[in-house]
Amino acid sequence: MQQRHIPRHVAIIMDGNGRWAKQRNQLRAVGHRAGLKAVRKIVSHAAELGVKVLTLYAFSSENWKRPETEVSALMSLFIYALNREIKSLAKNNIQLHIIGDISKFSHQLQNMIINAEKLTQNNTGLVLNIAANYGGRWDIVQSAKKVALQVLQGDITVDDITEERLSLGICAHDLPEVDLVIRTGGEYRISNFLLWQIAYSEFYFTDVLWPDFNRTLFEEAINTFNARERRFGSVNVEGSLC
Ligand code: FPP
Repeated sequence: MQQRHIPRHVAIIMDGNGRWAKQRNQLRAVGHRAGLKAVRKIVSHAAELGVKVLTLYAFSSENWKRPETEVSALMSLFIYALNREIKSLAKNNIQLHIIGDISKFSHQLQNMIINAEKLTQNNTGLVLNIAANYGGRWDIVQSAKKVALQVLQGDITVDDITEERLSLGICAHDLPEVDLVIRTGGEYRISNFLLWQIAYSEFYFTDVLWPDFNRTLFEEAINTFNARERRFGSVNVEGSLC
């Protein structure tokens, strides 16, 4: 039997919390709390399986358009989650990063993020990226600005602008490429998630709402990934899954 390849980098769009709550006549915030429980399960399963990087879309730059009450419930949930989980992340050798423009968050949340990243920075296990106030277009723009500055300062010329140079400013550029993107909740779109990073990723969509996503379904996504032939623009690269 062929050996199963574990994707090195899995990115997840965790959609469906609101509908999960609505099906139960509950507030959307209840769905987000249930979503956090699913996050815990998937983080620990990914670490057990040997996934190197897990990137979760927790709050997009567009999510500020949601009703005040929901935004505020999500902010409280992030604070709660950081408080509650940080020790367990540290204990389980998980390195936490927040990707996105955190300057829009409260000072309390920003400080908690900085402390949590510091506390886990030397961990060598799973790298957990939480995308918060993140947008794929924002990511490309902020990298382009860094390069523009280098040109303005005379450090490089316009001809020096290459994919590689632009990549250096993109979030998570130092981590393995995203192998697999999972989206729950039955929508088939990317919603401004990691646009640059997913150029050659495989996609797995499921109708299951995020709070119901579990270990078995995560395994199913990995098995589907294993059945795909990845060619990276070429014709056939033998054993190219990882
Ligand atoms: C999308 O579902 C989900 C979000 C915008 C928030 C995701 C947050 C969590 C899973 C909990 C916190 C996570 C961490 C890492 C602290 P939706 O609200 O768009 O659902 P809908 O499409 O059914 O309305």
